[in-house]
Amino acid sequence: MKIAVTGKSGQIVTALRERGMAAGHDVIALGRPELDLADPASIAHALEVAAPDMIVSAAAYTAVDRAEQERSLAFAVNGTGAGAVARAAKALGVPLVHLSTDYVFDGRLARPYLETDTTAPTGAYGASKLAGEQAVLTEYGDNSAVLRVAWVYSPFGSNFVKTMLRLAGDRNEVSVVADQIGNPTSAMDISNGILIVSENLAKRDDAALRGVFHMTASGEASWAGFARAIFATSAAQGGHSARVKSIATSDYPTEAIRPANSRLDCSLIKRVHGVALPDWRASLEAVVGRLQSTFV
Ligand SMILES: NC(=O)c1ccc[n+]([C@@H]2O[C@H](COP(=O)([O-])OP(=O)(O)OC[C@H]3O[C@@H](n4cnc5c(N)ncnc54)[C@H](OP(=O)(O)O)[C@@H]3O)[C@@H](O)[C@H]2O)c1
Repeated sequence: MKIAVTGKSGQIVTALRERGMAAGHDVIALGRPELDLADPASIAHALEVAAPDMIVSAAAYTAVDRAEQERSLAFAVNGTGAGAVARAAKALGVPLVHLSTDYVFDGRLARPYLETDTTAPTGAYGASKLAGEQAVLTEYGDNSAVLRVAWVYSPFGSNFVKTMLRLAGDRNEVSVVADQIGNPTSAMDISNGILIVSENLAKRDDAALRGVFHMTASGEASWAGFARAIFATSAAQGGHSARVKSIATSDYPTEAIRPANSRLDCSLIKRVHGVALPDWRASLEAVVGRLQSTFV
């Protein structure tokens, strides 16, 4: 399959190029300047020139805290831009996989979120991503799958695992929030899931394969628990490690409010698409291993 993915150097676009090529697909990354999500005309043109069999909408404005100050840019990229990608996919008549986030929820529920639970973003980033979901479903709900992912880590781009390993290089103790829980998910595993969903959409018209799905790794952690696992894995590989001091969200104020409970229930995508991502601990070792040479 010829897959066009939006973005150039992001975590998921880079992982999808790697996993897609390994699975025998032709994966073309389209990003700025030729495809700028803030410029709808560039989106239609770049996708038309690429002429893919499948489009994966992975690029986004992802600066969660900065979005509080740059709300209109976040909505232009994540809302209007996502809608323009969906319109282009519809014009080309190819299926669309669109990535969204756990931050569409407010985190007040005491159990993992289902796709049918009420959305209530706590910040501008989550609200802009929710606007993007709605634009995709309005423009092209009959041939798209919106995949909500969460707590993404990988050897690429910026992410929590890289931040922790960098900090462990120059300090003995790191303070990490312990009262937010979620499902840390490897971008490599997300890419494998995207490929399965893409193949299903390409092969079958079934309406049940379209719509909103939660797709994270199994197993849950707090950020502090995740940090401890990162350091234990790194130490076992002979890399840097640090002690983790658990702190409360209120001890680490940020511009954007984050959900305390980010856990997503992924039974629907397992039942409908046959996608079940591995436990996050199983994938952490490979990512930390790939990063060790960067943090010597
Ligand atoms: N990271 C997470 O923990 C997380 C959690 C939940 C959901 N998600 C969602 O998963 C998807 C992928 O996230 P990620 O972690 O791979 O993001 P990322 O590493 O921050 O990469 C973002 C990508 O978007 C591109 N981009 C930003 N603004 C753009 C614009 N105006 N036009 C074109 N491209 C633009 C960037 O371009 P350059 O290559 O030019 O920098 C980059 O390739 C996003 O939809 C995100 O909302 C992420």
